Amino acid sequence: MSARLDKIEGDREGFDENWKKRDETTYIHWTRGEPKNQIQLAFRNHWDLFNEIMGKDFSGRRALEVGCGRGSMSAYFADNDFDCTLLDYSAEAIETAKRIFAAHKLNAKFDVGDALDLPYEDNSFDVIYSIGLLEHFEDIEKLLSEQIRVLDSKGLFLGYVVPHYNENVQKDYKWINDLLKTYAEKQSDQNIPKKADIFRSDYGSERYIDVLNKLPVNNISASGVYPLPMISHSIEFPFTLLAENQEAILIDRFNKMLAERKTQNPNQHPWLCEEGYGQAFLLWCFKN
Ligand SMILES: C[S@@+](CC[C@H](N)C(=O)[O-])C[C@H]1O[C@@H](n2cnc3c(N)ncnc32)[C@H](O)[C@@H]1O
Repeated sequence: MSARLDKIEGDREGFDENWKKRDETTYIHWTRGEPKNQIQLAFRNHWDLFNEIMGKDFSGRRALEVGCGRGSMSAYFADNDFDCTLLDYSAEAIETAKRIFAAHKLNAKFDVGDALDLPYEDNSFDVIYSIGLLEHFEDIEKLLSEQIRVLDSKGLFLGYVVPHYNENVQKDYKWINDLLKTYAEKQSDQNIPKKADIFRSDYGSERYIDVLNKLPVNNISASGVYPLPMISHSIEFPFTLLAENQEAILIDRFNKMLAERKTQNPNQHPWLCEEGYGQAFLLWCFKN
């Protein structure tokens, strides 16, 4: 049963509205240096994990990010010599991504287009990924089959999914976020714009795997990821960062938590965890 929390599935205006009205859209989640905040730390770990999954023999360079938003994941791919295409159906998001890429001298192609009708030939890409896209769709058949259609033989599909969770790692830290929120509200006399409501499912990986099983792919895998809390006075759209020195304290603590996980389970990437515990889950498979 899906959690129809909000309003329309794949709501173009809702996404566009969100991209326009919040300062958080100007955040840059990619960095070449040491991550300076929780979101950069998260994207660094996504990239590290994606690399582990690609493996050292993965030689394809044609990369596509579907629902790219500001293109944080693609910035990693572009900076590592992938030939990147970024697609989103919010023109505002594409403009944001273009600005970020230009400011950092990263190259890519940008397309405004629909994930349900990708404007590419069959077998056009070696790796296709999305971060926070799949959960916004109730009907996932077309969404997945389009991505597999444009993926080339032996190409890698990666889908990072953020379902609606009530009982994951976040629940033990809710009190800290509530405290920060109360304090932030007291400090601010601004009327912070609200995020537009957008459909988010609570599908687990099995729903996607059922669909992938009917497509020409192999080695379908799934795992929980991001076994850390998000600490913020506003974890919406995306969670708002704390002051630089506070973020530095969190980064230090989170790196220690990841190192502890690695010590406890040396054979597993510390970013992986049980599905339902982390902030998200990752699906991956290869095209036949
Ligand atoms: C949660 S955001 C992803 C943010 C992105 N990963 C980032 O790093 O900034 C989801 C994105 O998917 C896009 N999107 C939603 N439905 C889409 C569709 N049918 N086709 C293409 N993009 C879509 C939205 O416009 C939005 O930018």
